[in-house]
Amino acid sequence: MTKQYRITLLPGDGIGPEIMTVAVSVLKRVGELTRLQFAFKEALVGGAAIDATGNPLPEETLAVCKDSDAVLLAAIGGYKWDTLPNAQRPERGLLNLRAGLELFANLRPATILPQLIDASSLKREVVEGVDIMVVRELTGGIYFGQPRGIFTSETGERRGVNTMVYSESEIDRIGRVAFETAQKRQGRLCSVDKSNVLEVSQLWRERMTQLGGEYPDVELSHLYVDNAAMQLVRSPKQFDTIVTGNLFGDILSDAAAMLTGSIGMLPSASLGASGPGLFEPVHGSAPDIAGQDKANPIAQVLSAAMMLRYGLNEPEAADRIEQAVQKVLDAGYRTGDIMSEGMKPVGCQAMGEALLAALG
Ligand code: IPM
Ligand code: MG
Repeated sequence: MTKQYRITLLPGDGIGPEIMTVAVSVLKRVGELTRLQFAFKEALVGGAAIDATGNPLPEETLAVCKDSDAVLLAAIGGYKWDTLPNAQRPERGLLNLRAGLELFANLRPATILPQLIDASSLKREVVEGVDIMVVRELTGGIYFGQPRGIFTSETGERRGVNTMVYSESEIDRIGRVAFETAQKRQGRLCSVDKSNVLEVSQLWRERMTQLGGEYPDVELSHLYVDNAAMQLVRSPKQFDTIVTGNLFGDILSDAAAMLTGSIGMLPSASLGASGPGLFEPVHGSAPDIAGQDKANPIAQVLSAAMMLRYGLNEPEAADRIEQAVQKVLDAGYRTGDIMSEGMKPVGCQAMGEALLAALG
C-alpha cells in the first residue's frame, strides 16, 4: 500500500528556493522507491512573505503548516530586510513559526563525515569520530521572556531589556527529550547552563539533576556555558548529547556545526509534543551566493531525511537518502564550500542530479 503524507514546503529566501528544489526531487525519487507519496504545498515565510504580504509569517502559512504532517523549511533572511523593525524582520517569521507550532525541542546533530575531515579548521585527530547531538530548548528562555523591549526611563535614557526565564515544566519537557535522545545514543548527557551566575540556570540544573534520577542508564554531567564552548573546540569527542537553553543552544550549535567543517552539511529537527515537526538546515540563506547555482543542497536534503526519520517515522526512506549522500561524497562530488584538491566541483543542480543517480 502506498502511504501519503502532506508536506508543507517553505523555501524562504536567498539560496532557499534552489536547495529546496533539490530536496523535493530527492523526496519524490525516494518516495517512488519506498512507496511513499508526498502531497507538497508551498507557502511563504521570511523576506519572501514580507514582500508579498508585509508579514514574515502570514496567518495562512501557519494554518497550512498546522494542517500538514511535516514542514520542510529552507532558509530565511537577507540584506534587504536587515533594517526593518524587529517585528517585521524575516527572523520573526521563523520564531513565530516555532512558537505557533509549539516546537520546544530542537535537535541539531554535528557529525563529522570521514570524507570531509580535512574541511574542518581543527586537526584531524581532534575531530575524527565526532558525533554530537545538541538538544536546544526552542520556545522559551531569553528569546521569548517578558518583559522585553527598548524602554525610555524618566531621565530620557533608553534601556534595552530581555528576560531569561524558564519554568519548571519547560525545563522538564526539554530535559525528557534530551534524556530519551541520549538513551538512543551513547547514554551520556551534558547539561549546559550558567548556574554560577544566573538563578534561571540554578533552577535548570536542579531540575536536570532531579530528572536524572529517572534515567539511571544515562550518565548526566553539567558544564557552565563558557567552559562548554571551550571544551567543544578543545576536545569535542568527550560529548555525546548536550542539552541547553535557547540562547546558549543557538551559540553552541553553531560552534558544534563548524567542528564538522561545513555548516552546509547539517540538518536539524524541531519537534513539539504533538503535531507536525519543522525540519531545516542549520545554515542560513547565504544571500551572497543566492541564484548562482553555488549553494550546497546537502543540509537541505539531510533535513528531508530527518523529516522522514523523526517526523514521519519512515526510517527506510531516511536511510536511503543518507546513503545517497555518502555515495556522492565518496564519488568526489563537492560544492564550493566543501571543495578540496582532486575533488569534482559541482553546482547545486549538478549535486542534486548526482544524488538522484545515487538513489538509483
Ligand atoms: C538559528 C538561527 C535563528 C535563531 C535566527 C535566524 C532567528 O540563528 O536557527 O539558530 O537564533 O534561533
Ligand atoms: Mg543560530
